[in-house]
Amino acid sequence: MKCSVSTITYLTALVLADTALGATYSISDNIVGNGFNSAFTYQAIADPTNGRVNYVDQATAQADNLTYASGDTFILRADYTTTLSASGPGRNSVRLQSNAQYSTHVAVFDIRHMPQGCGTWPAVWEVGADWPNQGETDIIEGVNDVPPDQVTLHTSSGCTMPDSRDMTGTSEGTDCSTTDTNNAGCGVQSTDTNSYGPDFNNNGGGWYAIERTDTFIKVWFWPRNSGSVPGDVNSGASSVDTDNWGTPMALFPDTDCDFSSHFGPHNIIINLTFCGDWAGAVYSSDGCPGTCVDYVNNNPSAFANAYFDFAGIRIYT
Ligand SMILES: *[C@@H]1O[C@H](CO)[C@@H](O)[C@H](O)[C@H]1NC(C)=O
Ligand SMILES: *[C@@H]1O[C@H](CO)[C@@H](O)[C@H](O)[C@H]1NC(C)=O
Repeated sequence: MKCSVSTITYLTALVLADTALGATYSISDNIVGNGFNSAFTYQAIADPTNGRVNYVDQATAQADNLTYASGDTFILRADYTTTLSASGPGRNSVRLQSNAQYSTHVAVFDIRHMPQGCGTWPAVWEVGADWPNQGETDIIEGVNDVPPDQVTLHTSSGCTMPDSRDMTGTSEGTDCSTTDTNNAGCGVQSTDTNSYGPDFNNNGGGWYAIERTDTFIKVWFWPRNSGSVPGDVNSGASSVDTDNWGTPMALFPDTDCDFSSHFGPHNIIINLTFCGDWAGAVYSSDGCPGTCVDYVNNNPSAFANAYFDFAGIRIYT
């Protein structure tokens, strides 16, 4: 084929424009049902945030039906039948870490139900192997059934966010450094109560999405029956264009944060813990009965709805 100079110039301009926007991504992983068991590793490790939890290995999780895969459903839950001894380990639960790592990417989490119950502290997040130097992004997180969702970055020092940002959520702090903030990080809360807990579940869940590039991190949430969910998210399309997704719930630009020195490749983590440094600390003020550890030990049936139901996770690069 013979290309004229003008055609080459035109194609080059198109490629450059596309690179500059970086807004179109193609699907690289479509994790559905039993696919979660090959995309993730079960981590039977201690909870660094002192939760009343006992993370079990894959064999135990499957034998006890704490994870369950069928068709387009993947359930991840805590034990809800066992009364615990106060001197023994915490409530059996599951922590999954993705086998793949991601830097620039989009991930869409299609979730029908998230764990609920007093004392619960579920999370879907991304983190590097060297914490906090490679950064952490919490996408879904909350405690004790209290909405809304909070999206948070945790970094090493020297990473702050501008006061004014083009996002729908509310900033809870602009310094992302774990040391400066006693590990609080720079959080952004959704303004939509359907973004978390029983309200999320009663509404049929919805979609969370993260876009991470060299210069920003954005997180969106669309409730299940929202008129604003983009067509490529709703349909599970093989490519997505984040330019059409509207204003994100949370925006973290690199204005006062050098991304190359604060973020490394991240694994996706899904976990469910109880009590500990956050859920335990605010348990009573969140209106929950008794004390957190006693409640988790002695009321197994209160955790019948302490489960994630994932319709799927789609990764685009
Ligand atoms: C589980 O998730 C919580 C919430 O993000 C986190 O603080 C805690 O450290 C996690 N536990 C483990 C073992 O990763
Ligand atoms: C395991 O859990 C799934 C999902 O909650 C449920 O449909 C199934 O009946 C359970 N299996 C057993 C043996 O309890």
